[in-house]
Amino acid sequence: MKEKILFTFNENTLTSEVATKTGSVIGDIETTYFEDGELLVKPLTEVKNRECVIIESLSGEAYETLFKVLLLVSALHGCDAKTITLVIPYLGYSRQGTNKVGEPNSSRVIASILNSAPIDEILTCDIHNSDALKYYKVPITNLYLSEAFCPTIEEYLEGENIYLKDVIVVSPDKGGKERATSFKEEIGASKVIALDKSRDHSDNIEKIELNSDVSGKTCIIVDDIVSTGKTLCAATDLLLEKGASKVIALISHPVISKSCTERIKKSQLSAIFIGNTIEKKLDPIYQVIDISELISEAI
Ligand code: R5P
Repeated sequence: MKEKILFTFNENTLTSEVATKTGSVIGDIETTYFEDGELLVKPLTEVKNRECVIIESLSGEAYETLFKVLLLVSALHGCDAKTITLVIPYLGYSRQGTNKVGEPNSSRVIASILNSAPIDEILTCDIHNSDALKYYKVPITNLYLSEAFCPTIEEYLEGENIYLKDVIVVSPDKGGKERATSFKEEIGASKVIALDKSRDHSDNIEKIELNSDVSGKTCIIVDDIVSTGKTLCAATDLLLEKGASKVIALISHPVISKSCTERIKKSQLSAIFIGNTIEKKLDPIYQVIDISELISEAI
């Protein structure tokens, strides 16, 4: 038997799609909680000499997920798996990746934990800050989702009679320009710009400014995360105020915190497209783009 064995803790469409596309099987895991809250994680599928792939995003209660993943890695290693690949479509805790005095560098913390586990390779997608990759000793690849997103966006633009020469790709902050540029190159839009955004505390925007001409253009805001939706709404208002004809958003990871959907519904965004990197039941305003093909090719 040559097919890979995929493991995930909760059923999700991304893993099922990857299994179908790669002809892999999904392995069974038994998770037991003891009365004191401790966990036992056991793979129930025979893994000796088999290539194993764990697919799990680190979102929400990421600390528990991370610990479960580490226990599973240890068990697979102990059962003589041939290789262990960890796919983390959304690598949470990547927003606190700097060395600000008095604050943790959580990107580095996660990397050191994963470096200590017997993992052969890690794949992630559209990491918040690619600088964090330097903390990894395990080989890690950051997949750009632009390739997976392009066909859907092209179809949307065609349906709306929008030409690429009239499209500007917008990063809502300077840090996201690399990601936005990758999408701009992939789709062939006329220009990429970055807004100037700063926050007063983690969830609040203090300032957002634009120093480019967007009049008469369709703006595609490309961002890795939508959490409260405040960035998207503020960026949309600003672009329309400065004369953009339409604003749509393309987001890699549906973090989507409690207040997000209501905020987006009240906004002037014409459409929002989002990757299926985190399994969630989403409101129909979000148009989900499946990224399983990209993951399947990469594993
Ligand atoms: C920020 O640096 C990120 O790229 C996103 O713009 C941000 O995390 C989105 O958060 P929110 O939806 O809460 O404004």
